[in-house]
Amino acid sequence: MRSTGLILGVESSCDETAAAVVRTGDEALSNVVASQMALHANYGGVVPELASREHLRNIVPVVREAVAQAGVSLSDLDAIAVTEGPGLAGALLVGITYAKALSFGLGKPLIAVNHLEGHIHAVLLEARQKAEAPMEFPLLALVVSGGHTHLYLAEQAANEMWNYRNVGRTVDDAAGEAYDKVAKLLGLGYPGGPWIDALAPHGNPRAVPFAFGQIKTRAAKAAHAEQNSAGGMHRLPPIAMKPQRIGHPKFEQSFDFSFSGIKTAVRRYVETHHMRAGIEYRHAALAADASIRPGSPDAVKLCNPQTLDLIASCQHAVVGNLLRQTFAAAESFGARGVIVSGGVAANRELRRRFQAEADRRGLPIAFPSLALSTDNAAMIAAAAWPKFVAQNFAPEDLGATPQLRLGAQ
Ligand code: KG4
Ligand code: ZN
Repeated sequence: MRSTGLILGVESSCDETAAAVVRTGDEALSNVVASQMALHANYGGVVPELASREHLRNIVPVVREAVAQAGVSLSDLDAIAVTEGPGLAGALLVGITYAKALSFGLGKPLIAVNHLEGHIHAVLLEARQKAEAPMEFPLLALVVSGGHTHLYLAEQAANEMWNYRNVGRTVDDAAGEAYDKVAKLLGLGYPGGPWIDALAPHGNPRAVPFAFGQIKTRAAKAAHAEQNSAGGMHRLPPIAMKPQRIGHPKFEQSFDFSFSGIKTAVRRYVETHHMRAGIEYRHAALAADASIRPGSPDAVKLCNPQTLDLIASCQHAVVGNLLRQTFAAAESFGARGVIVSGGVAANRELRRRFQAEADRRGLPIAFPSLALSTDNAAMIAAAAWPKFVAQNFAPEDLGATPQLRLGAQ
């Protein structure tokens, strides 16, 4: 049969059941997402068992809807692509089992896609849809979401397949996780990112000086420990968040991130500034009125100036850390362009400051639209296209890989 270039993508790695039909990796004909966010909001985080159950409930109608909206039939497809990891084991298995059955039933090849590669291709898909000039290689991609904060150096090989090198990662919490935890600490809704994003412009980002030392790089931490264990003779000054110099024997440059310190710092600030009563009041008010949304004036009214300053300062520190490490890595590896993707890429301060820094350096930068920032299946179908061209198909016994990594480490 003649190739149509149509790939059905299926994504179920976390709390979104998604399906999409994409033509030749550059034209999304449909992109359907059934979000479970409201369900998990009751628990302040994703509950794995509930996620699997909801995926089971949603997978068939979501795929049907994606195929119908695309105006194609299943027999028109060239291949089925599915997220194999990373993600929640039970959640991934729902999508994988369904995709395998569909591929077997239709006699079409199955393509396994890494969720993180999907996030990168969300940006490339949209750039191609807008017929923008392709970015030059190598590209530096920051994938920043609730589960991940990774820096990848990406290049395209001769056979169209992409090669990745993981040049930076979080050593503890992901940036989105920090947003979610800080929001929870402050009595705000779930997920926390959109709340902090919407409230931060109402506060002073310089009110609470989160010392950069609270977010240490892995190399700096190790060097610090080494110095201290050597008799404590030469105690290092507070560790700067700016990356260490290349080539220095003790300070190998690190592009890693750490976000658990900011959560602890916010908790301590809340305690020492007696903010508990206000937090409990806000939490109760939001629980009682689900119509209060992150950007609404009522949400701002629930926060006093001290809270708004804390939110603004916290976001300023997190975005500052992401920005410094990303551009330091881009410079160090000679990247010709920067891509930012994942749920946190929806953040307005992040987009503004990254765009300004890229402009200052004369470096092209691209973000996905808000719809393609968070989890979706169009990005999975788009990432599958080069694999289809290279005939890189999944084995019949494809399983879920919850800890799947992307690229050489
Ligand atoms: O990519 P995603 O939908 O799922 C994961 O793979 O994790 O990302 C969800 C994460 C959550 O932590 C959420 O708080 C964060 O993205 N997020 C944001 C914003 N919108 C979503 N963080 C900061 N600012 C936003 N506007
Ligand atoms: Zn994701």
